[in-house]
Amino acid sequence: MKKKIVHLIDDEIVIHDIFKRIFLEPEYELRISENKAQAKTNHTSDVDVVIMDQMIPGSSGLDIFKELKKDDPSVRVIFLTAFGTIEAAIEAIQQGALDYLQKPFNNIDLKHRVDRVIRERKLGQENERLRKTLDDRFSFENIIGRSPLLKKVLNIVESVADSNSTVLVTGESGTGKELIAKAIHSNSNRCHMPFQAFNSSNIPANLFESLLFGYKKGAYTGAVSDKKGLFEEADGGTIFFDEIANLTDETQSKILRVLQEKEIQPLGSSQTRKVDVRVLAATNIDLLAKVKSGDFREDLYYRLNIINIHLPPLRERKEDIPLLADSFLKRYARENKKSARAMSPKFMKLLMDYSWPGNIRELQNAMLRAILLSSDEVLVPDSLSPEILGVRSPKLEAAGGFNEKVDAYKRQVIIETLERNNWVQKKAAEELSLKPSTLYELIKRLGIAK
Ligand SMILES: Nc1ncnc2c1ncn2[C@@H]1O[C@H](COP(=O)(O)OP(=O)(O)OP(=O)(O)O)[C@@H](O)[C@H]1O
Ligand SMILES: [Mg+2]
Repeated sequence: MKKKIVHLIDDEIVIHDIFKRIFLEPEYELRISENKAQAKTNHTSDVDVVIMDQMIPGSSGLDIFKELKKDDPSVRVIFLTAFGTIEAAIEAIQQGALDYLQKPFNNIDLKHRVDRVIRERKLGQENERLRKTLDDRFSFENIIGRSPLLKKVLNIVESVADSNSTVLVTGESGTGKELIAKAIHSNSNRCHMPFQAFNSSNIPANLFESLLFGYKKGAYTGAVSDKKGLFEEADGGTIFFDEIANLTDETQSKILRVLQEKEIQPLGSSQTRKVDVRVLAATNIDLLAKVKSGDFREDLYYRLNIINIHLPPLRERKEDIPLLADSFLKRYARENKKSARAMSPKFMKLLMDYSWPGNIRELQNAMLRAILLSSDEVLVPDSLSPEILGVRSPKLEAAGGFNEKVDAYKRQVIIETLERNNWVQKKAAEELSLKPSTLYELIKRLGIAK
């Protein structure tokens, strides 16, 4: 066991002897200093408590205390004061000393006080350690769900976050792939560096490379000054390729090069630049099938897929639905100043029975819609969309001919729009870009009623 270190600063031999007797047990280590110079050499930050006389030849106790505190701000000091001269001790307390004892002191009392100071210090250290481990622990506070499938995903995130490995996140649309990519970054040692996302589905293919690698002034018409690419912006951090399957063959091979050589070459530049970027990627399609059909580079696929994290669809982790729905309910009610607080059992059952093809994003949208449509504290099925209610338009299924199908479709769109607009026809017409009179005609012809 670690010894309790007691440091006595006093010039009186008698006091030294008393201390040697009080702290005789092997659990203590007693250090004795007679003056300021010795005190400074004997003091280390692992000293648990300093007991010092107020009067030390050559300097005041308070002075030594201040010196020790400079090197060890958390130094814990108990002052010994001569009978009747406690002013300096009081000043010392005001300056941060812990306690004082008048000479002659009671040995048992002294030992109690010393032990208490040591106990409190150890407790403080333990708290500090706990707080640190909590800080170090992975934080997934924005990721909701406690299904075993999600836990498995989070375990993988934990174990790969701190490596520099590339990770391919797969899963249907809306399952949380970007959220997981961000969690990997924010739980990695790169967390204080940038996280840059590149979503190739929003960007024309001819811009991929200038955005990713940057360009030199004059690299092409319009390039009026040098521009850094995303790789350089993300230097030291993480770059996330959303929908990686959309990248052109040429961009794929350039990314592979960055992964292998750890350098980029801006367009129009003859020089390469070193970059230290971790690459994460996501896709909602079967990338291996694309590799097999020759639409995605095999070498890049294997380079990315070193670690694969697959996000299961929501319908396979239905236990997470109530938690997610509840958190979206609270968030959207707050954001939209709505009174919704809870969900009726029927409402919840419908959420549980639905298959959620759009996964968590669809659930998010459904909750937002429900909250916007209701003014009560409890959400009821009325506020859910027809798909979730399971009322597929009977006409749409039965309809045979083309015209009937079109009518059934129009009917469905109009009903949904009316619902969204609380059956105010004028508003619905506006949303549908129809003249109110046209909408009125359609409602009549299609036999739509609230
Ligand atoms: N476990 C979860 N807890 C809380 N919110 C989640 C969770 N999973 C996903 N979300 C939320 O759902 C939405 C969709 O998630 P995200 O954008 O990460 O999905 P995605 O798989 O990248 O979707 P897409 O394939 O459409 O790009 C986001 O708003 C995200 O914050
Ligand atoms: Mg995404």
